[in-house]
Amino acid sequence: MLTRRSFLASAGALAGSAALAAGPPAPALLRATGAPHPAAGAGVKAVRLVAAERPTALPCFGGRTLPLWTFSDAGFPPVVRLKHGERLEVRVENALARRNEHISVHWHGIRLPNDQDGVPYVTQEPVRPGESFDYAFVPPDTGTFFFHTHCNTAEQLGRGLAGVLIVEGDETEAYDAERLLVVRDWAIQADGTLGPFFTQEGAARRGTFGNVRSVNGEAQPTLPVPAGADVRLRVLNVDAARMVQFGIEGADWAIVAIDGIAVPPFSTKAWWASPATRLDIVMRSPGPGGTAVLYDYYAPDPVPLATFLSEGPAMRGGPFDPAPLRAAGIPEPNLGRAERLRFDFSNAVGVPSAVPAEAPDAGQFIGDICLTPQTFWAINKQAWPGQDHSAVPPPLATLDRGRSYVFTLVNTTPHIHPIHIHGHTFKVLGSNKRDLPVHHADTVLLLPKERVEVAFVADNPGDWMFHCHIIEHQETGMMGILRVA
Ligand code: C2O
Ligand code: CU
Repeated sequence: MLTRRSFLASAGALAGSAALAAGPPAPALLRATGAPHPAAGAGVKAVRLVAAERPTALPCFGGRTLPLWTFSDAGFPPVVRLKHGERLEVRVENALARRNEHISVHWHGIRLPNDQDGVPYVTQEPVRPGESFDYAFVPPDTGTFFFHTHCNTAEQLGRGLAGVLIVEGDETEAYDAERLLVVRDWAIQADGTLGPFFTQEGAARRGTFGNVRSVNGEAQPTLPVPAGADVRLRVLNVDAARMVQFGIEGADWAIVAIDGIAVPPFSTKAWWASPATRLDIVMRSPGPGGTAVLYDYYAPDPVPLATFLSEGPAMRGGPFDPAPLRAAGIPEPNLGRAERLRFDFSNAVGVPSAVPAEAPDAGQFIGDICLTPQTFWAINKQAWPGQDHSAVPPPLATLDRGRSYVFTLVNTTPHIHPIHIHGHTFKVLGSNKRDLPVHHADTVLLLPKERVEVAFVADNPGDWMFHCHIIEHQETGMMGILRVA
């Protein structure tokens, strides 16, 4: 049997497009998911988020204090946890000092009412400096989610405006421990300023990566875990651009949820996690004193991201057989009766990107924020208009409420595009390039020239953003609206 090492070596370290095309082998299913969630709590979780510049000295900054933009004095990332069935009530205040630096908060992956979705000009007015906005909703699904702003996002996310949202109540058997791993880069210049967050080079290609990699604000942290235990790892790629291929060496592990939604536990050698992807992993930690390492294999040489150090006596004997999570209550699309639509994700060559003449603020936003400086990308030959998010284009498609849809997502470019839908969760049916287990995802990776089929029930009325989650691609045209009416 191949060890992970020899598999990775034989796969050419999984770097470059050849490895991309090949992909990891088909994953092995371990167990089915548990029965759907029982009805749960009914309380209120009240949270206050204040977006402000806070001088912050994350351990990965090497002794420097940098002017992050964060949501809380707790630093980066704030973590909001609530129980399934609880209502989340969030007051968001904009205390950013920069003139016109407006915000809104998008609850990524949550199937919530449209007016709580946090998209400026589409679902709400922007929250300007000095203003606040109250969000309230009951997340319908358990799992690992996150939140971030939705305007000038390359910079706002780059400076730190994001947090983790965890909805508890999905475990069929309690795991022995849980660790959160929030993965992202920071772009730090030699003089200690942050950036760049946006470059033409990056926007037109694979995105602008930072130069300091981190997990929970630390460079290659060591996380103590109980020995011989089934440890739940909530791993989030909250980077604006960097694709990561996660794998663990030194321990057995299985994926139990993707984008927060339970999947029958499966083991695999490595899993691509694009920007915005969350993985819930169960790892059987090594015996007392042993270590296991989380790697990013999407690099010429695997990059160690974090080390798990087993402490105390072993908690479990027996073979690794991770308990599944409870299945989510996502409506099942009717594939036989579904309407089929195709979406081409392409470059913007030859695509008009004029501001619609009827846009109220057309032409007035040069130099303001949310500016789209160039247009490089398009969806079905339509690019988000090249001025400002306030210039809202007509929908890419209008979907019948309650109807099932199968989308064929086609990447016509030589670059990666993780495609995110708001307000719904896709069931990923398959790819022309990879063996994927059927799973749910709100952000679907498209490899170069890949074609992926997804299905869902368009059950949530409203205008929903549909865009690439490489933020510089989103901000240079690869964004549109799906209307459910
Ligand atoms: Cu996390 Cu519209 O995005
Ligand atoms: Cu993209």
